[in-house]
Amino acid sequence: MKVVMVGAGYVGLVSSACFAELGHCVVCVDKDTSKVAALLEGKMPIYEPGLEEIVAHNVAAGRLSFAVSVADVAAGTDAFFIAVGTPPRPGDGEADLSHVRAAAAEIGTCVQAGSVVVTKSTVPVGTGDMVEFVIRSVRANNNVEVVSNPEFLREGSAILDFMKPDRIVVGTDSLWARSLMGKLYEPLTAEGATLLNTSRRAAEVIKYAANAFLAAKISFINEMADFCEATGASIDEVSKGMGLDRRIGEAFLNAGPGYGGSCFPKDSMALLATAHSHSVALRLVESTIAVNEARKRAVGRRILNAIGGVGNGKKVAVLGLTFKPNTDDMRESPAISIISSLQSAGASVTAYDPEGMRHARLYLRDVAYAADAYECVEDVDSVVLVTEWDEFLRLDFRRIASVMRQRVFVDLRNAVDVSRLAAAGFAVHRIGHPQ
Ligand code: UGA
Repeated sequence: MKVVMVGAGYVGLVSSACFAELGHCVVCVDKDTSKVAALLEGKMPIYEPGLEEIVAHNVAAGRLSFAVSVADVAAGTDAFFIAVGTPPRPGDGEADLSHVRAAAAEIGTCVQAGSVVVTKSTVPVGTGDMVEFVIRSVRANNNVEVVSNPEFLREGSAILDFMKPDRIVVGTDSLWARSLMGKLYEPLTAEGATLLNTSRRAAEVIKYAANAFLAAKISFINEMADFCEATGASIDEVSKGMGLDRRIGEAFLNAGPGYGGSCFPKDSMALLATAHSHSVALRLVESTIAVNEARKRAVGRRILNAIGGVGNGKKVAVLGLTFKPNTDDMRESPAISIISSLQSAGASVTAYDPEGMRHARLYLRDVAYAADAYECVEDVDSVVLVTEWDEFLRLDFRRIASVMRQRVFVDLRNAVDVSRLAAAGFAVHRIGHPQ
């Protein structure tokens, strides 16, 4: 089948490469000519494990190509996907749909009867109606269906998430559109993936509800971590004991410095804004956001306490800057507020991240960047692990301890084996454990 993907951002590029890997002929279109030129030379605009290889493989096989105009490549297309950004609108946090509208209008000029237009971007409920209206106003009376097919890709494991999905959600009431979408995903459903057909509105809500629920799970476990600290229990044991209940599940029960990234913060704000516009109160979503914001500030104070209360003259090494491992994405990373509170208290900060330092320079001020973790910790009073990259878990902690001024280790992810830290002589501070 032929697919045109509008948008070569994170979702568009990963989905294009994966649809090509499934055997479809995919053209990924982006207005950004320099991005398309770089992609044509095999250069990826983002860091995502395995992406470069899967793109190269499918370009070489003739199944994946890149273009700047939808009209130039539209002929014979079965499915046009909209995978453009929906950033928060300044002021009210609602999703900005201008790129979605523009993509729909561009597709409308060249879409043929019998094709589907599929929204993959995360969009508020009802956006499918808007896309349909835009397309029909450009192409009157055309037999074109608008489908919602939200993505559930995590940065850092997006290719795996696409290829081995927990579920594929297809939102449309049209039987022929369902059948077309079924054929598109047939290579995955043949291997056992679940495809759930829903109405278009339900599919749009599922995406927001799933992200809001996962965010709530994290805020919940973070509050329990505070409770454990105050009462002398270990959050690791509590998470394990809760997660073994199949109704709860073990995933997303890792306490930490608060969730970040481009999705949970943005999507929960957008969900709230849509709910307000329908006069519905979503108190759990509101609380999830408030708990997460407060947590990021509290974590900064907590690090200061660990290094003796005042920052003046203290040097702190921050290991990990991105919002999670295996990405170079700094958006809403807890590292941003943590570093800023350390600096406000007078501490100086050196930092190292395996992939995030190029982007980090746009978000952080007055940080000294190190070439690796060992250089980062030279002469510091404290190490703070903010992002649990694998390479940090394998460090030689005796070597780390030997070049520090004081041996204080703050593990905000409970990721490092505490007995190795203790053996290296560290005073260890962990989330959700009595000190
Ligand atoms: C999230 C969802 O997991 C995807 O299903 C969804 O498709 C995506 O948003 C999206 O809407 O596009 P992502 O933001 O890439 O994916 O990353 P997650 O793995 O969900 O992590 C988000 C944040 O939660 C990170 O800061 C992470 O460190 C934090 N987290 C996650 C915890 O603090 N504890 C946990 O147990 C799990």
